[in-house]
Amino acid sequence: MQGTAWAGRRVLITAGPTYEDLDPVRYLGNRSSGRMGYAVAAAAAAQGAEVTLVSGPVTLATPPGVRRIDVRSAEAMHAAVLDALPGQHVFIATAAVADFRPRERQASKIKKQAGSGLALDLVQNPDILADVAARQPRPFVVGFAAETDDVERYARDKLVRKKLDMIAANRVGTDDCGFDSDRNALAVLWHDGGAQVDMADKATVARRLLELILARLPDGA
Ligand code: PMT
Repeated sequence: MQGTAWAGRRVLITAGPTYEDLDPVRYLGNRSSGRMGYAVAAAAAAQGAEVTLVSGPVTLATPPGVRRIDVRSAEAMHAAVLDALPGQHVFIATAAVADFRPRERQASKIKKQAGSGLALDLVQNPDILADVAARQPRPFVVGFAAETDDVERYARDKLVRKKLDMIAANRVGTDDCGFDSDRNALAVLWHDGGAQVDMADKATVARRLLELILARLPDGA
């Protein structure tokens, strides 16, 4: 759906998973397909926004009119986001960023030792969303929350703790929505209110989310 509602606004979006390499052939990853983030990028661009999409490894085509920056790891996504941040009006973090990475990436393939397991030494990745929210000046900051239960309670906690302007919470762990599915439903929360976005294809959900964001942008943003 084409339009001009977002004309003159710059929107930075993260999408997809991050891959944290263990060795040249193995990585830690997750089930994000990138579809939710790409749908938001496509909808914003179709409505006139200047969109930069920082994408983890996915198999999706770049939406028309979107500037795409490909990254693999959380650290690379963090660096790309901070680099693209100046001048952005809105930041939307749909990516499923790995919270941990191996302390060291092994240069050679890790060999199996007969009869023994493997303990991984993991360190925390930077929290991209919290870092963007802590900057001044900062864009209007929208986080996503993927939860298996108590979706709204955990999401509201993240809204406050990470000092976000808005959070879009989705239930994951079922096959029909959220990760790696064509459909989604959101509970969108802001500090003095919220709205439900009913289950629909991700393009429809993305358009509805953008309407909710647009209605809450401060004047001039
Ligand atoms: O990609 P799809 O298959 O379409 O699936 C979409 C989705 C389910 C991945 C998406 O709708 C979604 O919920 N994305 C957020 C998933 C997530 O990692 O949630 P979280 O609760 O772990 O993280 C909370 C927020 O912090 C997210 O906005 C995340 O992008 C951000 N974050 C998290 C960790 C980190 N190190 N840096 C971050 O920026």
